[in-house]
Amino acid sequence: MKPLIIAIDGPSGAGKGTVARAVAAELGYRHVDSGAMYRAVAWKAVRGRVPLEDEAAVARVAEQSRIDVTSAHVRIDDADVTREIRTPEIDRAAAAVARLPRVRIVLVDRQRRLGAVGGIVMEGRDIGTVVFPTADVKVYLDASPDERARRRANDPAHTGGPKAVADVATLLTERDQLDRTRATSPLYAADDAVVVDTTGKSVEEVVREVMTVIKRLEPGG
Ligand code: DC
Repeated sequence: MKPLIIAIDGPSGAGKGTVARAVAAELGYRHVDSGAMYRAVAWKAVRGRVPLEDEAAVARVAEQSRIDVTSAHVRIDDADVTREIRTPEIDRAAAAVARLPRVRIVLVDRQRRLGAVGGIVMEGRDIGTVVFPTADVKVYLDASPDERARRRANDPAHTGGPKAVADVATLLTERDQLDRTRATSPLYAADDAVVVDTTGKSVEEVVREVMTVIKRLEPGG
């Protein structure tokens, strides 16, 4: 089978990261977390005291940075920011940066290049709608707000935030609202995406469901 492009979109805490990683491992594909690219640009802008509402300046940060996202590490220029980009400060900064059309142009272009030869599972908010509108497989993962907040509260990759699920839920809902209502590339499920509600399901169950969708594409599948 030719190497596919698999797009996995959805709100925070829907399980995209875990599922995308597992699907990529099973297929021997590259896994790319596009959100980490927005987070890395936000991290560098904050660190350089670039005002996040200065679209031209933040776009320059994106353009002039080397960003390397693998399943193990996130690097921008020579800094390993794998851990530092998962804090409440960068949650907010990344959402602000992701609203800027000029920043999106730069990062979407890089994301498309990463997928040019296929064999990729890319997760994000606009992968099936904007980055790869002709992706071979589009999955939109969702879960109830409570479950998403519970997962985020228990995710060891995210540090420094509130621990109480109710507080995490408030922050997640605010950020999702920003992602869903922004003018450029808002979060929504592509018409041809398979929507999977992951509430109450194990990672294995969701990975099976996604693999079933992918296997349907195999000759005779
Ligand atoms: O998935 P995440 O929480 O790490 O994403 C960080 C921010 O970037 C979040 O506000 C959503 C935004 N984002 C986006 O706009 N488009 C993407 N393809 C991925 C993330």
